[in-house]
Amino acid sequence: MGFLDKLFGNDHKEEQTMTNLNIGIILGSTREGRVSPQVGAWVKELAEKRGDANYTIIDIADYKLPFLGEPGGDTSGVAAWSEAVAKQDGFIFIVQEYNHSITGALKNALDFLREEWNNKAAGIVSYGSVGGARAAEHLRGILGELLVADVRVHPALSLFTDFENGTDFKPKDVQADSVNQMLDQLIPWATALKTIR
Ligand SMILES: Cc1cc2nc3c(=O)[nH]c(=O)nc-3n(C[C@H](O)[C@H](O)[C@H](O)COP(=O)(O)O)c2cc1C
Repeated sequence: MGFLDKLFGNDHKEEQTMTNLNIGIILGSTREGRVSPQVGAWVKELAEKRGDANYTIIDIADYKLPFLGEPGGDTSGVAAWSEAVAKQDGFIFIVQEYNHSITGALKNALDFLREEWNNKAAGIVSYGSVGGARAAEHLRGILGELLVADVRVHPALSLFTDFENGTDFKPKDVQADSVNQMLDQLIPWATALKTIR
């Protein structure tokens, strides 16, 4: 906080982020009782302290997407989903491991769009019994096809040591460092890729 902010009593939360870089934090799970909102909120809080981008939670569940191409499916949320993704310059995927891969909901939501993903950057924050590592690696293959450049640093949260009873998110301190290291890679890539779109 600068001298003038102190003088006029502005605290950090009231500061405007002076950036036009938009990063969407995508919650990959939609099931009732999911823990992804806790993880997404933690990532957002850490990220916003940096002041280097506008960070927005994007909850796939809000869009009520049908299965892609499902006859008679309610497609009323598809345009809003497209718009939400299109306006981002980069993404942080909150990824949970379901049967050694990503959720069906996230795969379906990815499949719905194409150009909206292209030539953007992404970081992955995953969780599971082994940090969601297998799901995260599956996602990297999908992102390659969608022309999304995923950064190397990958915070991997353990259901055993970063959650209590597998449900209450209590991350070890070291995980916050890992999120910041991931963002140190994501922000320059998201900035650079803006120039070729
Ligand atoms: C259908 C299903 C399959 C799962 N498969 C795995 C798995 O293969 N590996 C793993 O580490 N955890 C697995 N889990 C545990 C989930 O990672 C854990 O429940 C996590 O909290 C799910 O994320 P969510 O709460 O955001 O839905 C599975 C959970 C579900 C519901």
